Amino acid sequence: MFLNLQNITKRFGDLVAVDSVDLNIVEGELICFLGPSGCGKTTLLRMIAGLETLDSGDILQNGENLAKMPERDRNFGMVFQSYSLFPNMTIGKNVAYGLECRKWERHQIDSRVDEMLALVNLEDQVGKIPSQLSGGQQQRVALARALAPKPLAMLLDEPLSALDAKVRSALRLEIRKLQQGLGITTIMVTHDQEEALTMADRVVVMNEGAIVQVGSPFEIYDDPSTSFVADFIGTMNFLAVTTLDDGAVRLGGAAIKCGKWSIGTGLDKAARLAVRPEDIRIYIGSTPLQNVIEVEIDWIEFLGSIYRLNLTFEFDGKKQGLKSELSSTLMRELRLSVGDYISILLPEEHLWVYSQ
Ligand SMILES: Nc1ncnc2c1ncn2[C@@H]1O[C@H](COP(=O)(O)OP(=O)(O)O)[C@@H](O)[C@H]1O
Ligand SMILES: [Mg+2]
Repeated sequence: MFLNLQNITKRFGDLVAVDSVDLNIVEGELICFLGPSGCGKTTLLRMIAGLETLDSGDILQNGENLAKMPERDRNFGMVFQSYSLFPNMTIGKNVAYGLECRKWERHQIDSRVDEMLALVNLEDQVGKIPSQLSGGQQQRVALARALAPKPLAMLLDEPLSALDAKVRSALRLEIRKLQQGLGITTIMVTHDQEEALTMADRVVVMNEGAIVQVGSPFEIYDDPSTSFVADFIGTMNFLAVTTLDDGAVRLGGAAIKCGKWSIGTGLDKAARLAVRPEDIRIYIGSTPLQNVIEVEIDWIEFLGSIYRLNLTFEFDGKKQGLKSELSSTLMRELRLSVGDYISILLPEEHLWVYSQ
């Protein structure tokens, strides 16, 4: 284990920004703190870095408590959203700066700067100043600068948020490869779920200062522990239901069997049924089947490789809607149009039940 965070809390006045967080960070992993803006990600990262004091809790590394250790003694490399390079220094000098502060020998500094700039493919930019580089290049310089002093870990706070979409996805891959190549433990803060899902070994989902779920990207997508995670990660339909016995709920007039329950079963409780758009199947057969309901196609959106259907159904005068996604190929075969009534199958193994 690399770091052991125990019961960390941080308040700003009455606001609890980070609330009793416990977390183990594994040596060599890339772990993402993911959550909506204001949920405490940056504050938690800054406490690990030593840029923010803790109100309570411990940060243990190899049995040593970092909680009161000054930032300069922790040896972490930080990268922020704003590249924060020194504007009047050359790229080479920016990367060398931390090594000079640490009193490295000149020849060691020169060779380390060359090595780091080669690592981020910027060896030919060494003499330029930051404003002559693109945003993506500047952020690569920031990475080289953070890595130059051989830190124990990298701490990245929304490192890609200021970049445009194409550069962001290229750099996301580059950072991940670099991190894996070096085997360096990395903590990355992001509010962008796609970034977290594509880059992380493990994702820490946060809400209102607390950790809600920790798991691999697949785990948090495939088995969200609360409706907050279900809603925050990917797209999820939520439908109002009441519980029946025997692992089923009542949706409109139909009994629907559900595979995943986050609440105790009990008769007649109001609950929320959750299903992902890609898990909904079109049912073409004519024999009635468990978990099949009839819906109307209210709207069809073309998204290139897929179509999104907005479906509605009405029961007891109450209308509910859900979205499903179909491949363009299937959509062409089925020839569906707005106003059609179709049957859909809600697969038991992909249905969650959460409390109201
Ligand atoms: N220095 C500060 N003083 C007062 N409140 C702060 C300070 N830093 C952060 N906060 C508040 O703490 C909460 C968490 O902030 P932050 O950690 O920056 O969230 P995130 O990075 O998840 O967007 C927010 O409500 C924010 O306004
Ligand atoms: Mg932040």
